[in-house]
Amino acid sequence: MKWIIDTDPGIDDAAAIITAIRSGLDVIAITAVHGNTPLKFTTRNALILTEVLDVPTPVHAGAERPLLQPPLAAAEVHGSDGFGDAGLPPPKRALATQHAVDRIIEAAHQYPGNLSILAVGPLTNVALAIAKDRSITGKIHQLVIMGGTSHAQGNTSIVGEFNVLADPEAAAIVFEAGIPITLVPWETTTKAVIPAAALERLRGSASPVAEMFLTISKPLREITRRFLGAEGMVLCDLVAAAVAVDAGIMTEHVHTYVGVETGGTLARGLTAVDYARLSGRQPNATVCLGVDVGKLTDLFVQAITA
Ligand code: RIB
Ligand code: CA
Repeated sequence: MKWIIDTDPGIDDAAAIITAIRSGLDVIAITAVHGNTPLKFTTRNALILTEVLDVPTPVHAGAERPLLQPPLAAAEVHGSDGFGDAGLPPPKRALATQHAVDRIIEAAHQYPGNLSILAVGPLTNVALAIAKDRSITGKIHQLVIMGGTSHAQGNTSIVGEFNVLADPEAAAIVFEAGIPITLVPWETTTKAVIPAAALERLRGSASPVAEMFLTISKPLREITRRFLGAEGMVLCDLVAAAVAVDAGIMTEHVHTYVGVETGGTLARGLTAVDYARLSGRQPNATVCLGVDVGKLTDLFVQAITA
């Protein structure tokens, strides 16, 4: 299976990218999108990661804003530059010249039935690829998406999770496209905090990747303590990466229809999970409701300290 990681790095995106690549996913491209921070930083941060990991994975720039609404950002969580404003040196590598959307389309035709996408940012790139060439919906094996909510407990609005709320129109296009989805929603990730003891194992390692991660992730420990009252780090995108690496890490899931609300004010960005099967719609997603936190932690620590 070939993989593309579509991402808005982002501290937890970094954990996801490191873990996906170091756990052996065949990642043929990283496609950057607006999100936690503007595109100029998400592309820069993705290049920094490929350099620190010393992998030849190309990074493609994608959409710099949502389809319709103005961009959101999450500087209070990830810093204004997306990497904790840690002042990392700029990358030496250059971006691939091909647009991210065109790389997604090309890869779907290159590897029909053998390309999956780990999508851990707003879904604008994936939606644009579908809009530009709908035939890819029959060629992409699956989307593993970090986004949305399982029970309408938002992290950015009352019901809105950041990735979906940042571009609800894009999310609606993707969820209605007919590509099999495994969805890792916000609430599930809040039950999978990487414990402080595990972070200490990173501190004790001689790994430059671990050192970089600890440097950029300082704000997330404080955020986790403040919002969740937990000692450690909630790394949402890492959970989706772990599911992509080994779906057996899921301890609970439901396969049903999930719709994206694009109208309204309070409800805009809601991922409506049809637990009672009232919609009459065909299931389009496997919603991850729980993961084995011990396995997740071990996968992360092994990858980041390798
Ligand atoms: O809601 C969490 C998601 O929004 C994560 O992907 C995080 O990186 C941000 O993009
Ligand atoms: Ca992200």
